[in-house]
Amino acid sequence: MAQKDTLTITDNRTGKSYELPIEHDTIRAADLKQIKVNPDDFGMMSYDPAFGNTAACISRVTYIDGDKGELIYRGYPIEVLAEKSNYLEVAYLLLNGELPTKAQYDQWVHDITHHTIVHENIKRFMDGFRYDAHPMGMLLGTVGALSTFYPEAKDIFNKEIRDIQVHRLIAKMPTMAAFAYRHAMGMPYVYPDNELSYAGNFLNMMFKMTELKYVPDPVIEKAVDILFILHADHEQNCSASAMRNVGSSLPDPYSATAAAIAALYGPLHGGANEGVLQMLKEIGSVERIPEYIKRAKAGEFRLMGFGHRVYKSYDPRAKIIKEAAYEVFEAKGKNPLLDIALELERIALEDDYFVQRKLYPNVDFYSGLIYQSLGIPVEMFTVMFAIARTSGWLAQWIELLEDPERRIARPRQIYLGEMNKKYVPIEKRKG
Ligand code: CMC
Repeated sequence: MAQKDTLTITDNRTGKSYELPIEHDTIRAADLKQIKVNPDDFGMMSYDPAFGNTAACISRVTYIDGDKGELIYRGYPIEVLAEKSNYLEVAYLLLNGELPTKAQYDQWVHDITHHTIVHENIKRFMDGFRYDAHPMGMLLGTVGALSTFYPEAKDIFNKEIRDIQVHRLIAKMPTMAAFAYRHAMGMPYVYPDNELSYAGNFLNMMFKMTELKYVPDPVIEKAVDILFILHADHEQNCSASAMRNVGSSLPDPYSATAAAIAALYGPLHGGANEGVLQMLKEIGSVERIPEYIKRAKAGEFRLMGFGHRVYKSYDPRAKIIKEAAYEVFEAKGKNPLLDIALELERIALEDDYFVQRKLYPNVDFYSGLIYQSLGIPVEMFTVMFAIARTSGWLAQWIELLEDPERRIARPRQIYLGEMNKKYVPIEKRKG
């Protein structure tokens, strides 16, 4: 029988059949609308809470093969990029679709480097936060505030103006992140050093003390750069979807990025590595692991850093981070929590509960251990993630703006609430 790229559905309520086109193994949810019992019905919808099986866009940025444990940016496997590229090159790749030539790269580095300084009012704005403000909350608020500094950023369909905002966001994110840290530490802000690499300059703004010139440790600089590459994009995750959802109402990119940062803040997304360290500390010793796993299996809590909506095998980023971790530990001394992490991973990977549910370590399982060894405080972990993910969010946002099918995001609902209730005046209402 000749193969046909269609799906035939029979509605057993009416006996009618419908033939829907299939493209890329997908049917269009809007094609279901023609399925009705009565002509004035709204028509059939698909119900997919948390979008587990709904493609919300066509994308050419990042691809994950969850079963094979593969992650690809613009066609390049993450392992190759982590080994051979640097973060700024990868950011260019995500945004432009191809790796830069030497001339394009030099221009790109120049463009980013020349936007690293923030307006002095931004510095004062950050000063206004309480001494103990969480740096992620500070970053979220400050990125939102940037929109008021660059009102021209609203002109989102002007490519030249849009490019400048992209440079500004990628350039200023490490500056604001480091200022948030220094604010919490009660230390003076350190201005960017444009002679250093993207990762090196971030370390400079975080850790420079009284020395005239900060010289980053190359092992640490490299580790931070790899972590930035690994976190740069990850398809239609919660924060990228927030960027696209909010972006679809066409605000400036600072407002949309602030929304993405808010989505990343949650413990089930970017906040998980903070959770991993807390968990490892709570476990405290290798002997206590079996008991802890038993409680996780009983549903008391989740093993942080385990499981993923898309990866149903080892997260490739976790593999690269695990290797990078050993290099950092060699330079900075072993993190005492490493033994607990390794043993927890070993036991969980042999346990039926985790095997059956295909729960493997994800990117957050080892990243916290590296950050801690680098001297980066726990509250900054998600902030580091946000710095790196900015290029991915912006690549997703630009793809959205250029999508001919773009419309404001507006999901449907199944309404199961009450209807036509009789209004009772307040004095007559009974408790
Ligand atoms: N520990 C114990 N059980 C788990 C875990 C875990 N970490 N993750 C999932 N499960 C169980 C869950 O209880 C469920 O079991 P059952 O079928 O018996 O009810 C089953 O596995 C499927 O879980 P789910 O909640 O349907 O999976 P999901 O795709 O909705 O959630 C997840 C994905 C990442 C939110 C979840 O695995 C989780 O909460 N992990 C811990 C938090 C974490 O490490 N987050 C970082 C994600 S990676 C960073 C990023 O890309 O943002």
